[in-house]
Amino acid sequence: MKAVVLNGFGAPAVMQLGEAPLPEPGRGQVRVRVMATSVNRADTVQRRGLYPPPAGESEILGLEVAGVVDALGEGVKEWRGGERVMGLVAGGGYAEYALAYAGHLMAIPDAITFEEAAAIPEVYITAYLNLFMIGQLQAGQSVLLHGGGGGVNTAAIQICRILVPESQIMVTASTAKIERVKTLGAHLAIDYRQQDFATEVKAFTQERGADLILDHIGGAYLAKNQAALAVGGRLVVIGLMGGATAEINLGLLLVKRQRIIGSVLRALPVAEKTAITNAFVDRVLPHFRRRTLLPLIHKVYPLAEVAAAHAEMEASRHFGKIVLSVAAAS
Ligand SMILES: NC(=O)c1ccc[n+]([C@@H]2O[C@H](COP(=O)([O-])OP(=O)(O)OC[C@H]3O[C@@H](n4cnc5c(N)ncnc54)[C@H](OP(=O)(O)O)[C@@H]3O)[C@@H](O)[C@H]2O)c1
Repeated sequence: MKAVVLNGFGAPAVMQLGEAPLPEPGRGQVRVRVMATSVNRADTVQRRGLYPPPAGESEILGLEVAGVVDALGEGVKEWRGGERVMGLVAGGGYAEYALAYAGHLMAIPDAITFEEAAAIPEVYITAYLNLFMIGQLQAGQSVLLHGGGGGVNTAAIQICRILVPESQIMVTASTAKIERVKTLGAHLAIDYRQQDFATEVKAFTQERGADLILDHIGGAYLAKNQAALAVGGRLVVIGLMGGATAEINLGLLLVKRQRIIGSVLRALPVAEKTAITNAFVDRVLPHFRRRTLLPLIHKVYPLAEVAAAHAEMEASRHFGKIVLSVAAAS
């Protein structure tokens, strides 16, 4: 099959369209004929050699797929050949065929195209899991989302608007993306390059602070995140774009009864990811079915132009998701 192969680790040019063996589905797995996949920030880190796949998973990049059921492994009863599916994979998405666990797949609603579907699983499940299942965001609370123009956080703004319409959504973004995050639904948009987000959050919430912060900057933002957090607030750390280490103010943690929680989707046990996928299907998928929720697609690249797609993400020119069309690869 055609797949994106890596000639070493490094800049986007290490990725090329090449050949890889057709994967055989194991027990509980489904082989999907991939029609589209999409680029996630983690792929760019894996490409540089800094984020290896979990043990036993494909070395091929790609964390999500949309396509058609092609072959079933032993024990799979939920799917039949030819069905349109989308879902999380722990690797292997940048290829004509990929393996997914049956419980990690979702039926693509009729109203949704393969390219739209490829932009759904990773970022909307990440947003749903961390805001609602882990972060326990409740109606009427306030939430701070960093990098509101990115894949995860455009999804996060949208699902907050839909699931907790009374919440106060505060977002940081770079100057060029401020107006777009407001249009998408942010009640407060903070230019993180010009403004101090902790000061802005405190002012907007009448000194109360945010009940929940979804953070992927890590070390560089820990102190400011703690300052911006309300009494009883939760800080869910899902990424480390600003470094992995920082000093923590335990006094503030104690007095304000703050909780800091680390969360990573890719390496979760199969059964846990199945439970999360099921919750997502119940709670969020109906909105895609009605097209009252739609992924924001910045651009679709053919798989052969994967290097340009990664360069676009690393230049942060995108708003929403960058999709790779695999249908045209063969
Ligand atoms: N733990 C998990 O399970 C999990 C799952 C999925 C994703 N993630 C993580 O979530 C993060 C986002 O992933 P993605 O695919 O959505 O990437 P993305 O589309 O590239 O989004 C990244 C965003 O970060 C923003 N950003 C960069 N520096 C910033 C700063 N100092 N302050 C505020 N925002 C800043 C960028 O905003 P500008 O362009 O405006 O500068 C960009 O919109 C990554 O770190 C990824 O690894 C974690």
